[in-house]
Amino acid sequence: MKLKTPIIIINFKAYKESTAKKALILAQKIESAAKKHKANVAIAVQPTDLLLISSHVKIPVLAQHLDIQGQGAATGKVTIEAVKAAGAVGTLINHSEYHVPSSHVGEVVRLCKKHKMTSVVCAPNSAQAAKLAGYKPDFIAVEPPELIGGSVSVTTANPKIISDTVSKVYKTARLNILCGAGVNTTQDVQTSLQLGTKGVLLASGVVKSKDPFKEMEELIKGLKS
Ligand code: G3P
Repeated sequence: MKLKTPIIIINFKAYKESTAKKALILAQKIESAAKKHKANVAIAVQPTDLLLISSHVKIPVLAQHLDIQGQGAATGKVTIEAVKAAGAVGTLINHSEYHVPSSHVGEVVRLCKKHKMTSVVCAPNSAQAAKLAGYKPDFIAVEPPELIGGSVSVTTANPKIISDTVSKVYKTARLNILCGAGVNTTQDVQTSLQLGTKGVLLASGVVKSKDPFKEMEELIKGLKS
């Protein structure tokens, strides 16, 4: 499945606010904001919540990581066949909080193409983004690790990493680029798009918000302006 752009992808990570029943309630709030404003939104959830959430919402649901073992005698592994059967339409890979070798990234991108699923490859900086762009994923998301989970957005603290990523990746292929880390305002989303991305990847701004629906409306305004 191809994700429409511009897009906001919310990474649920493993927060208590985004686990099990709370994850479902959060996903439904995100979906109602997306439906109200006809915005492109997707969520990346824990493997244990994939089937529950994909059975109750229509917005695209992604896995947060994939292992590259095939189905069979592979204990504790997250296979593409399993996440696809659980309703995922794609996956993040190489997130700063779950870094994998570039060969693993390449194999996940290949598997996603084979299974007609979306690959969102994460990179900590523009150089890594340019290198991983060589695998031609559907999305490259640049997220400076030092800003992840903080209150200062990458669009404020380090807009150059975004423009550098766009220019370096475009030398390889015109891929969809996202940026993330500390994103939480309309302005953050607007600036991200102005710098050449096709959207944002975020977590705490929505997952930890007292009012996730309202926060989603704040972010979606940035997609529309
Ligand atoms: O995958 C997105 C995430 O790493 C960004 O985290 O909390 O800064 O939006 P946050």
